[in-house]
This record gives sequence, structure tokens and C-alpha cells, in this order.
Amino acid sequence: CGIVGYVGNREASEVLLKGLKRLEYRGYDSAGIALVNGGLHFNKGKGKVDALAKKIKQSGLEGHLGIGHTRWATHGEPNDINSHPHMSESGNIAVVHNGIIENYTTLKKQLISRGKTFHSQTDTEIVAQLLEEIYTTSRGVSFEQAIQLTLKQIVGTYGLAIVNKDMPDKIFIARKGSPLLLGIGENEMFIASDASPIVGYTNKVVYLDDGEMATITKDSYSVKTIEDVELTKEVHELAISIDEIEKAGYPHFMLKEIFEQPRSIADCMRGRLNVENNSIQLGGIEDVMDDLVNAKRIVIAACGTSWHSGLVGEYLFEYLAKTPVEVEYASEFRYRDPLVGEGDVLLVISQSGETADTIAALREAKKRGALVLGICNVVGSTISRETEAGVFTHAGPEIGVASTKAFTAQVVVLTMMALSLGKRKGVLSQDEMSKFIKELSKIPSKVEYILEHNDESIQKMAGLFTYAPNFLYLGRSYNFPVALEGALKLKEISYIHAEGYPAAEMKHGPIALIDEMMPVVVIAATDHTNEKMISNIEEVKARKGRIISIMNDENSDVMDLSEFHISIPTTNDCFSPLLTVIPLQLLSYYIAVNRGCNVDQPRNLAKSVTVE
Ligand code: G6P
Repeated sequence: CGIVGYVGNREASEVLLKGLKRLEYRGYDSAGIALVNGGLHFNKGKGKVDALAKKIKQSGLEGHLGIGHTRWATHGEPNDINSHPHMSESGNIAVVHNGIIENYTTLKKQLISRGKTFHSQTDTEIVAQLLEEIYTTSRGVSFEQAIQLTLKQIVGTYGLAIVNKDMPDKIFIARKGSPLLLGIGENEMFIASDASPIVGYTNKVVYLDDGEMATITKDSYSVKTIEDVELTKEVHELAISIDEIEKAGYPHFMLKEIFEQPRSIADCMRGRLNVENNSIQLGGIEDVMDDLVNAKRIVIAACGTSWHSGLVGEYLFEYLAKTPVEVEYASEFRYRDPLVGEGDVLLVISQSGETADTIAALREAKKRGALVLGICNVVGSTISRETEAGVFTHAGPEIGVASTKAFTAQVVVLTMMALSLGKRKGVLSQDEMSKFIKELSKIPSKVEYILEHNDESIQKMAGLFTYAPNFLYLGRSYNFPVALEGALKLKEISYIHAEGYPAAEMKHGPIALIDEMMPVVVIAATDHTNEKMISNIEEVKARKGRIISIMNDENSDVMDLSEFHISIPTTNDCFSPLLTVIPLQLLSYYIAVNRGCNVDQPRNLAKSVTVE
């Protein structure tokens, strides 16, 4: 979900709606705003921000202070009543909330027994009700103190923004487990769950940490802990520009982000990969390089696409640095009493830096004494702040819900980490290092080549397979995770059922599904498994499966066996995921567009999953 808030001289509804539009990628099943202007007015409902904007225009809702929310449902189906903001019984207090209140049923029962009436099925409504009860019944308690007392009764996670009709110049916010930041302008203040709504207004931000709250007016802010200890917070400078969060002429963010990859990959390497003096410098992990050299093993924890890049990382670290790696779903790792401790390195990978399960895995491993490192895209995110060291991917803001440029940037970081570790451990000679560095530096231009030469043919191919009910993706070695990623991309945005498999494993199940209706995408661009892959293709063909291959340009054997082929430039096997994933991103994009799907905001998904 996304939260935005504004106080200042501008028309608050405009700032809030614009902010919600930018936050829509985080959840979009319903949206709403509340403004304080003489009274407390709100407008909310099921549907996208555009629908809300229309309603607000008609209603003439105006003001200079307000809060807004775009929702990804956790408790209660997406409908008008369950949309945020939620009001207290008297209508004096409005609350927007990200996260999950775990003890809400108990609190709700208690409130009902004391005569409160609830309107929604959400966990959020209890915050508004409980807060009002505490504030109106406790003598001498300020509103801020009432918030503190309310939060003490809440078990769970929250990013909260609260307004009170009787305090028309203040917004109150609090954070535990769900990100919030404030943007400091000239005579105006912003609050948001990530930086996107603030970009273009101010670049001065303060990140709230867990257990903190703040009171904001248009020209002041004060931050304290929920236990009422005053804090002085560091003001950070935001380095995101407006162009980065706009579509720049592309019909969708996803397509823009796919085409940005030559640049985002180059940005990720900039200042780190040095061809002239044959070196890799990763400033963020320089201080822990010795720990990495001595690490018994590296455990990688992540979710979704980031987990797939972690799987590529496993092949890279084991091959280039001879360090054993295990890759874990963050959600499984954290609940399993994991055997990690001193001498282990936990590497978390996250585009947003806010995925709840990944954060929990990080905290668990830290508690057990492991060194915790991160690969993150969002500077200032929770994961980037809680890890002991790490490397930013510098891919720029990723707005499309289906991750594309963040994946390739993560793989680039993992590659650079594995190479520099391999060098430090003496696994790679200077000469080998030099060859790898040279080849890696050519990846941006090779990605560019793929985009230029294959976009049209992939578009045509997508036309032929638009209505396929199923897809199978097969890969081996470094390209096995790419098969998983290709299948994930397709199912996320086109709702076609797709599965990724290690090619040989196909014989143990998926082969039963193959017939003349089944498109099988074969990622046959890993030289050292080429012969085996050709056998797998034959096996598919023998069952009349329709072969779409991603292959290196001269591979005539694969070409002859394929109904369709996409040729990509040759590279070292261990860098090939950076190239093979590109056509798969495009294929899923065009199929989804042909099916009329909302590519940037696929149903039921959210860009960052801040609930467990
Ligand atoms: C969600 C997104 C995916 C992403 C995953 C992990 O499911 O839709 O695109 O890969 O979360 O997110 P993270 O921000 O931790 O990489």
C-alpha cells in the first residue's frame, strides 16, 4: 500500500492525488484521501486513483492539509467501505495505514463490548476507534500521547498517518515495520511511504525508523520515539529526478524499464568496474571483504525476482569465488530456526529494500551473529539501513510491478562481488580477471543490440502465442534461474500459467504436459551444457511441443530444431543471464499487452510486499 500526506500552501488534494498516482504501483485496489479544512472531509472508494480524482473534482473537496492512501488489500475485500482513510466514530479522526495489526480481532471485540460500531472489515479501523476512545476518555492526555498509548496496545506492523479535525495544522505519523519518510519543503511538508510522491517538490528527507513517530506542521517537524524520547534525525538528500519516475513517451513503465537496461547496467558498473586498471571496486563492502574471504558460506535470502537473481548468484559465487552458497526464500528462512551464526554471511537482495519477509530474515540472521550484507536498489530503504554493509544496484526507480531492470542490476552486482571475491581468494588469476572484466564491460552494448534487433520479431511471435493457456520455460546452469524468471514474468502480467524448470528435470513431470499446444521456451545459450540442451529440445519436439529458443548467434543446431528462435550475442556462460532474460521480458510484455492486461499494475500484485 502507499501513504502520502501534505501540509502547506498548495492545494492539498492535488498534491495527494499526484502522490497517490505515483504510489499506485504499490497497490491499487482502492484509494482515498482525507482533508482537514474547517471539518474533516474524505472521499474514498474501490478502484484506481484516476477514479478517485474524478470524484474529488466533482465534489469540490479542497484544503491545505491532508492524507491519502492507495491500498493492496490484506484484511477485507477491496470495496468502498474497506478503503482508507478510516474514521473514528465521531468522524473527528482519520487514519491511513500500511501493515497488519495482528491483535485486531481482540481489540475490535473489546471496543465493540464498550459500545463502538464498526463499519469495515479492516484492521485499520480499530486504530481510529481506539485512538479516539483513549483521547476522549483520558484526562489531560495530549493527542500525541493518546497516539502513543494506542500504539502500545497494538501488536503488528504499521506505517500510520493520522489527522484530527480539531488540529487543522498537524499531521501525525508513526512507524513500525512499514516505511515512512517526511519531505521538508519551504513552508510545506510532505509525508510518504516512499520517496516517489515527494520528488519534484523537495530533495530533503528524513526517514523514520521503527518505533518512531512525528508531528508535522507546514514549517516544523518533531520526531520522537513511541516512548516519548525526543530525537534529532539526520536530513538526507534525495537523488531521484522527475524523469526517472515518468514514462518518457513509453506506453508503460515496464517497457521503459526494459529499454533502460543498457543504461541501468552501465550505471550499476560505473566507478566500480575498471577495464583500464583491471579492477573491481565495491566501496560498500570494502570493509567486510576479509569477512567474505573467510566466510564458511554465503546464505542468500530474498523473495520473487530478487530470489531468482540470488539463484544466479549461487552459480556465480561457486564458480568464480569457490564459496559455497545457499539460496533461501526469505519467508522460509525466517521461520525455520535457521542454522546461521558467526562465520556465515547472509546476503539479502531486494529491489525495494522494504519486503517484510526479507527484512525479517535479515534481523533473524543478525540476531544469530551472521554478518548481514545487502543488495538494494532503493537508497534509504529499511534493508539498506539495517544491513551492516552492501552494494546499491543504482538501477534508478523501478515502477512497473514486474521487475526487469532491477533483476539485471542485481545480477551485475552479484557478478562483480563474485569476481572481486574470487580475485581476493586467489581463485582467479590476474589474466582471468582481465578477461572477465573486459567481457562484463561489453554487456550494456550487447543488451542494446538485443533490444534493437529482436524487439520487432518478439512482438510478432507474441502475437502467435497470445492465447496459449500454458507455457513451459527450460534452462540449465546459469540459465535455469532465468527460466524461472521468464515464467514468473509471463504469469505476473499476462495471467498465463507458466512454469520454469531445469531442462533435465522436465523428464520428471512437466514432459507429461507437452503436446502440440504447448509453447516451450528453451534458453539454450549456455555453451557448456549445449549438447545436453539439444537432447532436451529433441525430447520436447518428439512430443510435438513448440520450441521457442533463445540461443547464441551461431548455434545452427538449436536453430534447426526450433520453430522460432531469438539470436543473442555470445558472451561468457556466467554472464549469459544478463542477456537471455531480455527477450523473455519483452515476450511477456507483448503477450500481456495483446491480452489487454494492465501491464504496470497486474491484478492482485504489489510492487513491494510490506506484509508477511
Ligand atoms: C513483489 C514484486 C516483485 C519482487 C518481489 C520482491 O512480489 O512484485 O517484482 O521481485 O516483491 O521484492 P523486493 O523489493 O524485495 O526485490
